[in-house]
Amino acid sequence: MTTQSATAPCACACACEPSEQEQLKKLDEVIGEYRDKPGGLIPALQLAQTIYGYLPEPVIRRIADGFGKTVSEVTGVVTFYSFFTLHPRGKFLVRVCLGTACYVRGGKEVLDAFKKKLEIEVGETTPDRQFSLEVGRCFGACGMAPVVMVNDTVYQRVKPARVGEMVNQILAGALAAGEKEHA
Ligand code: FES
Repeated sequence: MTTQSATAPCACACACEPSEQEQLKKLDEVIGEYRDKPGGLIPALQLAQTIYGYLPEPVIRRIADGFGKTVSEVTGVVTFYSFFTLHPRGKFLVRVCLGTACYVRGGKEVLDAFKKKLEIEVGETTPDRQFSLEVGRCFGACGMAPVVMVNDTVYQRVKPARVGEMVNQILAGALAAGEKEHA
C-alpha cells in the first residue's frame, strides 16, 4: 500500500515541491514509456498520480492524448479503481472500514466521529490539506473490528470516543517529525 500526499515531493532531500515544468517532464516520460505497452494505461496513471498526488483534468487529457484515447475513456478507468483520485488528497488518508464485521461493531459510528472531528464528509479533504476521509470494504483485519487505516497504519478496535484524540496524536506526530527534519 502506498502513502498519498497532496503533492509528491521532488527528488532532492529538501522536501520542496517540484515545479510544474518538472512534473510535466516526468509525466511525458511516463507517457512515452507506457503508451506502447499492452495494459500500460494503469501503471501510467499510477505514476501520474504519484507525480501530482492526484489526477487533475489536464493530466488526464494529456494521458488520453498520449495513449490515443478519449478523455472519457481514461476518466472511466480512473473512476473505476478506488486507488485513483480526481481530487487532491490530504497528507493523511483516513479510511474507515465499513465491511460487515466493522459495520456491525460500530464502524458507522467511528465514521461519524471522524466526520464530526474533521468537519468533512466522505470523499472530502480538510481545507488545510491534512486529512482526507474515505471508507473501505474490509482490510483483512475483521477480528480487530472496527478498523481504520491512516495511510499505511492500521488502527484496531477504534472507539468513536477516541477519534478526537487519535486525530490529535496523528497531527502531533506529524509536527514532531517535521521538527526533527528541520532540526
Ligand atoms: S470488515 Fe473491516 S477489516 Fe474486515
